[in-house]
Amino acid sequence: MTLPVLTAVTGGWEARLVTRWERGDEGVRVVRRCVDLAELLAAAEAGLGRAAVLGSDVDRLDREAVRRLVAGGVAVVGLADPGDPEAPSRLRALGLTRTVPADAPTVEIAGQLTAAVSDLDSGSGRIPAPGAVSRRGRLVAVWGPTGAPGRTTVAIALAMELAASGRQVLLVDADTYGACVAQMLGLLDERAGLAAAVRAANQGRLTLDSLARLAPTVSPTLRVLTGVPRPQRWPELRVSGLEVVWDRARELAEHVVVDCAFALDADEEPPFDSAAPRRNQATVSALSAADDLVVVGAADPVGLQRLVRALQDVTAVVPGRRQPLVVVNRVRASAVGPHPERRIRAALLRYAGVDDAVLVPDDRQACDAAVLAGRALPEQAPMSPARLALAGLADRLPEAQASGPEGPGSSRRGV
Ligand SMILES: Nc1ncnc2c1ncn2[C@@H]1O[C@H](COP(=O)(O)OP(=O)(O)OP(=O)(O)O)[C@@H](O)[C@H]1O
Ligand SMILES: [Mg+2]
Repeated sequence: MTLPVLTAVTGGWEARLVTRWERGDEGVRVVRRCVDLAELLAAAEAGLGRAAVLGSDVDRLDREAVRRLVAGGVAVVGLADPGDPEAPSRLRALGLTRTVPADAPTVEIAGQLTAAVSDLDSGSGRIPAPGAVSRRGRLVAVWGPTGAPGRTTVAIALAMELAASGRQVLLVDADTYGACVAQMLGLLDERAGLAAAVRAANQGRLTLDSLARLAPTVSPTLRVLTGVPRPQRWPELRVSGLEVVWDRARELAEHVVVDCAFALDADEEPPFDSAAPRRNQATVSALSAADDLVVVGAADPVGLQRLVRALQDVTAVVPGRRQPLVVVNRVRASAVGPHPERRIRAALLRYAGVDDAVLVPDDRQACDAAVLAGRALPEQAPMSPARLALAGLADRLPEAQASGPEGPGSSRRGV
């Protein structure tokens, strides 16, 4: 059986392939010659091909396009223009692991296509980040259910504590519903560093230097990659670019702390368009990439019930991970009755099997003062009850060096 192949190749290289493969003796045949990337994506989504040959100078080619092809079960081989010495590295930066010079023998290109299909059938289909990862920091995702339980407060405090102990930290605001890390830290820059980083990653040009430039320092050891200032800009956080950002972020910092949005469900997916961006994908992408997970819940009856469900939901979304670190925030007797700590611990043990949650007291005075001043809680009110309770959180996370080559889930306390 011959392999049905789609092509989107400029210049004279395509005609040679079509003519040669028409004979059928190289195991592949061109079923559609696409004039541009849009036509190729449409043909792939219509199920016309199992593999595609993409020219290095195809207009608007980016990682998102490659991801869509691969996610749709179409293996991709890049055809590098021999007159362009940068073409192979550019194609690899877009996630194309198999690239061939356009003037290579057609049988070699056909062989690469067959091999790419085998890769896809046997592997996860994940598009690799470009280049070797020189250092691997730990990524901790701070997540929690709806109801503003304090995810951002916890994420900022955690990043500050880690940075205060001398470790290089990058705080990332990946909340696609209400990014506010910049405002809470008093950063006037409305640049949406994360969106810019994702865009650069998607075009294969996110380097360590460019990521560092997009993430201003707020202290000698803490950088911040701000989120999308207007919620309607969430489609800019494409998952194909985010995956690269997580890898690069781990190279830049020993600890990457990601403030996530609450929603994990896939209800927003338009059923007719599997390639459309999805709002909750940024959260799912961060959780999937995370070495450690902190789940924040609110210390009132509704918040606690949401927390118990959230712990089940997160296990379903990122299965096979170890138990997350649980933070119950705004603990107060008025919400749950006398001895709130004892009651909350008993409820968590009974309904979620959690026996080591960090409980943070309700501390409106300190938290309000921090937000008002545009400073993190550890800076604004270092002796406040909420800060003191959160201070120990950083010590509960494994050190960056403990990560090793096994990646997520390998830690003493990984998710
Ligand atoms: N321990 C605490 N005591 C009192 N107030 C707190 C505490 N923790 C957080 N807050 C306050 O609760 C509000 C919500 O906190 P935060 O923005 O961190 O929540 P969130 O879960 O990130 O919410 P969102 O859904 O908006 O992302 C803020 O005004 C914050 O100052
Ligand atoms: Mg928040």
